Order: sequence, then C-alpha cells, then structure tokens
Amino acid sequence: RPGWRGLIEEYRQYLPVSKETPVVTLWEGNTPLIPVPKIAQTIGKGVEVFVKYDGLNPTGSFKDRGMTMAISKAKETGAQAVICASTGNTSAAAAAYAKRAGMRAFVLIPDGYVALGKLAQALLYGAEVLAVKGNFDYCLGSVREMAEKYPVTLVNSVNPYRIEGQKTGAFEIVDVLGDAPDWLCIPVGNAGNITAYWQGFGEYHQAGKSQRLPKMMGFQAAGAAPLVNGAPVAHPETLATAIRIGNPASWEKAVAAQQQSQGEFNSVTDAEILAAYRLLGSEGLFCEPASAASVAGLLKVKERVPAGATVVCILTGNGLKDPDTAIAHSESNFKQGIEPELKAIVQAMGF
Ligand code: F0G
Repeated sequence: RPGWRGLIEEYRQYLPVSKETPVVTLWEGNTPLIPVPKIAQTIGKGVEVFVKYDGLNPTGSFKDRGMTMAISKAKETGAQAVICASTGNTSAAAAAYAKRAGMRAFVLIPDGYVALGKLAQALLYGAEVLAVKGNFDYCLGSVREMAEKYPVTLVNSVNPYRIEGQKTGAFEIVDVLGDAPDWLCIPVGNAGNITAYWQGFGEYHQAGKSQRLPKMMGFQAAGAAPLVNGAPVAHPETLATAIRIGNPASWEKAVAAQQQSQGEFNSVTDAEILAAYRLLGSEGLFCEPASAASVAGLLKVKERVPAGATVVCILTGNGLKDPDTAIAHSESNFKQGIEPELKAIVQAMGF
C-alpha cells in the first residue's frame, strides 16, 4: 500500500497504543498475499490457494509484527533491556527492534539448533546471545523466571503486546481478499501466532470488515506435536527447528482458536515438510522449513477442502534464514568442480 508507515500507524485504532507510545518500527507488515496455482491444482475442485509471505518482513519473519508492539510498549514504560527465548526468529526480531530503540537485548537460544541466518542476524543487530545446552522449552522457562527477578522485559509471545501486533496479519488478509478465507493454514510451535490470527479475524469480523471466520488449521511437525497428541513432548525433534517445541506457552488459547473455528490440529512429517518446501520453491517462493508445514498440512488433508474454497497458508519465515537446509534438501542438479572451459561447461549442461 502506498505510504505504508508500519503496522502500528496503519492499524492504530485496533491496537493498545496512545499518542504517548514511542513507536519503534522498521516499516513491518504489508506483506504480499501471493497465489500459488500449482498447489491449488494439486487440490483441484476450484480451490484457490494463497500464501501470506511474511518472510518479507524487515527481519525476515512474522515476529516483526509482534516485536514492533512489544518493544514500543517496553520503551513506553522506560525499559532498558529485553529478554526472550527463541528458536531463532524471535531473537532476530527482538534484537533488531530493541537495539533500534536503544535497549539491550538478551536472547537465549538452544545451542546448536538455530538456523544459521537467524544467529547471524541476532549477532549483527547487537543482541547478547546466550546459547544454552537445553531446548526451547527450557529456555522459555528460564527467561520467564529471569523477567520476574531482574530488570528485563520479557518479549516472548506470553507478552500480550506480541499477540496484539501479530493479529494484524489477519487484518491484512481480509483487507486484500475482502473477506476472511475459508481455511487458514498455519504452522504451530509455541502457539502464539495461531492465537494472534484468531484474535485478529475475530476483531475484524466484529468491526464489520468480514462476513465469515476461517477454520483455523494448525500444523505441527510430527516429532514436536504436543497439540496433536494432547500432551507435552519432552524431547521434541524436527528438522524444522523453528517449531521444535514440546510445550507451547499459548496451549489453551490455541485450543480455543481451533475449537471455536471448528478447525483442527494435525501433524506433518519432516519428509512432508521438505516436499512442500521444494514445491513452494518451484513456485518461486523460498520459505523456511517450519513455514512449509502450513502447505504440507494443507496437502495432507486436501481431500477435505470444500470445493471452491479460498485457502490462505502463512509462510512465516524467509528461506534465506536457513541456507543449510536448502542446500542439503533441494533436488536441483548441482555440479561442482567444472573445468573453466566452454566444452566442459556445455558437457555439464547435458547438451
Ligand atoms: N514459523 C516460524 C518460522 C517460526 O519461527 C515460528 C516460531 C513458528 C512458525 C511458530 O509460531 O511459536 O507462534 O506457534 N518461532 C519462535 C521463535 C518460537 O523463537 O522464533 P508460534
């Protein structure tokens, strides 16, 4: 949209900010809703599928939506330091917004389980990065405790301002489609984003901006699927490290979203995630593996998509975040060590 000034200015009337709130923004939001005809064709039945490419936010993930709010509100209360636990994206966003606001940013990450690009971002923005030999669930427990005892503001999605900012993703979808979609497919880790989207669709519906409410379809990685199993997972495992979470903080709110919308939780294997990741690549869309879980989930339950339905899948993070996975799991022909001679190159091309 022309003249976009970041989501707080654009959606001010729906957000808990006042004239006194110092807006900390990187012009986040306003990300494109892109049709994916190949994926729609594999479903058939006249179904339309769009992806909300939130990897185009300033730090490359949807976390910027929540962080512009959380950091602006922290700044408003005079906070000088923030803290979070993260599988990578939250730490990148927290670091970027906190440093922009002149605050310290402490981030706890599971040592060895954060994608390369995310770590690079947190370091470059100037966060104080603490890699802990424990998983995300452990890190979240410890930052919650620290925020109670020390002068640091917690900016994980248990901070309600995070959810307030993230709900604007739903507003943008309705603003583009003119109504809510029939289905909203979304990857679920700590369950903040599914909570935020449901709140956003609800508020916009109340405001008369949409006729319908979507079914909330939440997808978890099979090795980290507490909401599908109905019990926490002690040792979550998946190649989609962003959603390698065994005990989501917003458990009850996510279940409420699923029940109220008559949606469902389902799981997708790492192989299904990678297949969707490559399929998206073939449509020119590079997302991170966790994001591809939304499309993998849609394809898993495609028989149940109503004919003529409009479906939106949230692509939560940019593929550039995780170059290692892309290189290891793309099926393109990559021929290395070719001699610098035209003949050798032509031969390698298979002509
Ligand atoms: N997709 C990506 C790319 C993520 O980074 C996350 C969460 C999710 C989906 C799941 O969202 O937690 O709201 O259910 N990443 C968090 C982090 C945990 O620390 O960056 P959720």
